[in-house]
Amino acid sequence: MSRFTFALFPEQASTVAAGVDHVFYFLLGISAFFTLLIAGLIAVFMVRFRRRSADGVGIPVRPSLALEAAWTGIPLGIVMIIFFWGASIFATMQHPPADAVPINVVGKQWMWKLQHMEGQREINELHIPLGRAVRLKMTSEDVIHSFYVPAFRVKHVLLHAERRHIKDVIHSFYVPAFRVKQDVLPGRYTQMWFHPTKPGKYHLFCAEYCGTKHSQMIGHVFVMEPLDYQKWLAGVSASESPRDAGEKLFASLRCDTCHNTTSTARGPWLGGLGGSDVPLLGGGKVKFDADYVRESILAPNAKTVAGFQPLMPTYAGQVSEEQILALIAYIETLPAPGGPKEAK
Ligand code: CUA
Repeated sequence: MSRFTFALFPEQASTVAAGVDHVFYFLLGISAFFTLLIAGLIAVFMVRFRRRSADGVGIPVRPSLALEAAWTGIPLGIVMIIFFWGASIFATMQHPPADAVPINVVGKQWMWKLQHMEGQREINELHIPLGRAVRLKMTSEDVIHSFYVPAFRVKHVLLHAERRHIKDVIHSFYVPAFRVKQDVLPGRYTQMWFHPTKPGKYHLFCAEYCGTKHSQMIGHVFVMEPLDYQKWLAGVSASESPRDAGEKLFASLRCDTCHNTTSTARGPWLGGLGGSDVPLLGGGKVKFDADYVRESILAPNAKTVAGFQPLMPTYAGQVSEEQILALIAYIETLPAPGGPKEAK
């Protein structure tokens, strides 16, 4: 928007925007109604029941069961409406449609790095076509910081408490026009989805204080007509897709020496496991998802798959968050054992 417009609310530009606003209007209306009712009654009662003579005494109040039931039952009904209405919209926002386009997001101090599955990378900008839902897989790459001034020959290794404080930097991906906001945390993946309803350029904010330049961690989401999007795609030099990058890493890090389909493999075959429960060495099980794969790359022996020995070395410090996302994208495409023949 080039000219200044005054708006109490951001534009509604996603499928959930109107629903979120309606709950908000309802909450606002209920709050306003009871605020005015109570404040008004206080004023009326102050005048109507004021003490009229110096020795006036109030009359005892007779309890009324009907009145008690009403002021318990009516608020209960109202909060139940708020709960079920809000919960149904929350549930919708938690469950991306199956055909949503996946996009990887890595937050760092102080920028958003995004990558499309076809390989295009963007910083602080996200271009998407109209008519498709989009699902973001997000994490933060901010790690331990160390204060180092070579000229002073001092290197401040942060104490545990400070380290925790800095390591736990949280960003929050916020697109007001879509009414979506999701925290982005180091060390785990969060997900968010939206389905834009009209073309335009929409603000993207970091909505969680994350350090000095937090206020500059901003950008735009561009929702484009499919034809314009194709033109945009054609004009962007596509780097490798995360899946292809992951395949190369899988080979160059020698993951395939243990994770293969031979009967003597020292590690489990990773194909076809997505979302299923995997039995663990020593009992228990774990859901095979992005968080488990990430943990297994960085701290392999935290949860060893049953039937295997905890032999895998850690790859912490050898792979970036983006490379881990690439490995996950590749592993997600591996076939189940006995499925289509895999090259390795
Ligand atoms: Cu990132 Cu605030």
